[in-house]
Amino acid sequence: MKDEIMFPVYIRSFGSYLPKRRVTNEELSKTVDTNDEWIRSHTGIGARHLAEDHEATSDLASNAARDAIERSGMNIEDLDCIVVATATPDHNGFPSTACIVQHKLGLKKIPAFDITAGCTGFIYALEIALAFMKDSHMRNILVVGAEKLSSIINWEDRNTSVLFGDGAGCAILSTDESPRHSEDRSIRKHKKPGFIDSLLYSDGSGYKHLMVPGGGSKNPIFGGEVNIEDVSLHMDGRKVYTFAVKAVSDIISELIERNNMQQEDVDWIVPHQANSRIIQAASKRLKIPMEKFYLNIENFANTSAASIGIACAEMQAKGLLKAGDVILTVGFGAGLTYGGNLFVW
Ligand code: ACO
Repeated sequence: MKDEIMFPVYIRSFGSYLPKRRVTNEELSKTVDTNDEWIRSHTGIGARHLAEDHEATSDLASNAARDAIERSGMNIEDLDCIVVATATPDHNGFPSTACIVQHKLGLKKIPAFDITAGCTGFIYALEIALAFMKDSHMRNILVVGAEKLSSIINWEDRNTSVLFGDGAGCAILSTDESPRHSEDRSIRKHKKPGFIDSLLYSDGSGYKHLMVPGGGSKNPIFGGEVNIEDVSLHMDGRKVYTFAVKAVSDIISELIERNNMQQEDVDWIVPHQANSRIIQAASKRLKIPMEKFYLNIENFANTSAASIGIACAEMQAKGLLKAGDVILTVGFGAGLTYGGNLFVW
């Protein structure tokens, strides 16, 4: 029998984990033909965190999960399901990274699975978890975006190696009551915590613009010498840039318009942290001030499916999220996928 759900599904807590090793642009420029000035002016990136050889995506994800659990005041055993969004799983599909996370957290007999939607993975995973909860007995779902992008980067390619970092960000979706339900709200912020809407899109015609060409079923790699070009990330930066500016602008406008809201009703926009110039261009196009966008790309670079969760966890830790705040997430990535979520904190 289904438990009675008393509260709408809302995000109870965020969590994050960044590997200890921090590599600045200056350090990177000792091994790749690049420099701090170029990276900062073209991307807004100043440093990135990189995992050690022995650390896998599941380690980053498990640590982020523990952070969220600690902040939420609940127990790990209260989790009913684990969804991991990643493009860099521990193993090539067998088994899923979510099952390894489940094992590392000591959980049994709950569903655990991965989803892949490139850098939009966290946004997709939140909506999938939400749909699960709406029609089941589940009360708490862990959604993690985790990436060890350093494992698919050609460190001699300056076009990609300067852009990415490793890390994990997560959210716990819950239907149980939290202290935030009874916090005081101003007249404008009367809304209860919960999801309002999501948009999930993909344009598969652009799949070649961002890809790892080998190692999958199309180009399996068996024996012989592995060519780094085959197993590393390739990107047509200009094409992705043009796509991203339009995708970010379209998602923000559509989410606001179809929910009969004004730009002023949104307190924070948390974009996928790929390039600060993409966000500046969208901000200009939409006439939304940059102050409304939360950016932390300078410290962490592009962590793909992890970036929005990491940003939200940082905002929560800094006390920037106030009860009743309306948050809009927006992302884009390999696929080419794009989308956004709208929720009240
Ligand atoms: N250091 C120094 N010079 C460099 C570097 C570098 N790391 N990389 C490129 N250059 C040089 C190029 O060789 C080129 O030199 P040239 O003019 O002598 O030929 C010059 O800089 C300009 O290169 P462009 O590639 O045209 O630079 P652009 O201004 O387009 O910026 C960038 C490149 C930052 C990749 C940009 O296109 C971009 O941000 N695209 C979107 C990328 C993105 O968002 N990717 C992630 C989305 S999905 C996901 O997150 C997985």
